[in-house]
Amino acid sequence: MGKILEKINEQMNFELESGYIYLSMAAYLKDRGFDGMSGFMHKQAHEEYEHAMKMYGFLTSVGKLPVFESINKPAANYKSELDVFQQALQHEKTVTSRIDDLVDLAREENDKRAEIFLQWYVTEQVEEEDVFTDLVLKLERADGKFSALYLLDGIIAGK
Ligand code: FEO
Repeated sequence: MGKILEKINEQMNFELESGYIYLSMAAYLKDRGFDGMSGFMHKQAHEEYEHAMKMYGFLTSVGKLPVFESINKPAANYKSELDVFQQALQHEKTVTSRIDDLVDLAREENDKRAEIFLQWYVTEQVEEEDVFTDLVLKLERADGKFSALYLLDGIIAGK
């Protein structure tokens, strides 16, 4: 058996870790009084759980036992709201690169079911990066000003 299923299992754990990171970010934003941004991060955390569960479902469908690993402790503090979203964008870029590597490996091992399964994640990462890039840009423009941040909080709440 090739390594691709092992690597998808690793990514399943990384998706759960992503959710854990976003939960920690949500808590920080809530603590700062930005309920809209916090709610958005909660939603992201939930999406990461769904990403992991899709992989769980795939692994069980092809007869591979999903194995859960320890999750690294996420940061509890950030420099600012902008810092949170910049780190989230950076994290999404890491996810994209990991998904790309998985697709390469699936092709290398000629595992078409894995390759086709991973297509969904390739598309999803385009959206994920786009959303975070847009929010980082808006937060950069807010330049730490509370009036602009509170306005943005309302806009992000609707996303
Ligand atoms: Fe599952 Fe946000 O990547």
